[in-house]
Amino acid sequence: MRDKIVAGNWKMNLSFEEAIHLATTLNGWVADNQPIPQVIIAPSAIYLQTLLEGVDEQYIKIAAQDVSTHEKGAYTGEISAQQLDSIGLDYSLVGHSEQRQYHGETDETVAQKMEQLYAHQITPILCIGEQLEERQSDRHFDVVKNQLLQALKPQIVENLTNLIVAYEPVWAIGTGQTASPEQAQEMHAHIRQVLLEEFGVELANNTSILYGGSVNASTAEELFSQPDIDGGLVGGASLKYEDFTQIITSIKA
Ligand code: 13P
Repeated sequence: MRDKIVAGNWKMNLSFEEAIHLATTLNGWVADNQPIPQVIIAPSAIYLQTLLEGVDEQYIKIAAQDVSTHEKGAYTGEISAQQLDSIGLDYSLVGHSEQRQYHGETDETVAQKMEQLYAHQITPILCIGEQLEERQSDRHFDVVKNQLLQALKPQIVENLTNLIVAYEPVWAIGTGQTASPEQAQEMHAHIRQVLLEEFGVELANNTSILYGGSVNASTAEELFSQPDIDGGLVGGASLKYEDFTQIITSIKA
């Protein structure tokens, strides 16, 4: 059966010292509060190795925020899946809407990144979600289905063992406008149905589907009590120890 997961996407925030302090404090809290859902944090790339060494992986997993489409070579500024694997990293976000918006990420590049991650046994946290106008014009179910299927090309599905999906409606990210539990649940059920129809019951049942977009300490509990919401991908609130720990306790392990 699938895991309950609360992941914090730190985006481009925190100094080195702040990152270490938050990660180690969280590590201590998670250790003291078992059983607890799986906690994952995704810091900036320059902190990955230090945090991998600084936390206990039985309590906190570390994820990259992005990965290159390429295996290796002359791609200045990029980080390959092979390199992430070489420092012992097991998770990476892929397809985040901020990458799609600011760095020309397309469904095609997301599929290439997925392929790289699977080639190096790194579990993708695949981010999908519609824009406001797509929801307003009632295209949100089709848009999300298409993003999901484009990312899961046949050569990827062949190797599909672990998959985490994060449904993050773009209009809810950083806006304070959380999707309602009903809106989120119906999309999560849709995503699980697509996984079921296309790839079978095992993948549909075993894939944790996280909700992301302005999750905070007061909205988390109702969101996480929905049957197809297996946890959250939290941005801003994951930078605050009190808020993030409260969000984690909002879900039953
Ligand atoms: P916020 O929680 O700040 O809206 O960010 C959500 C997000 O983008 C997580 O990946």
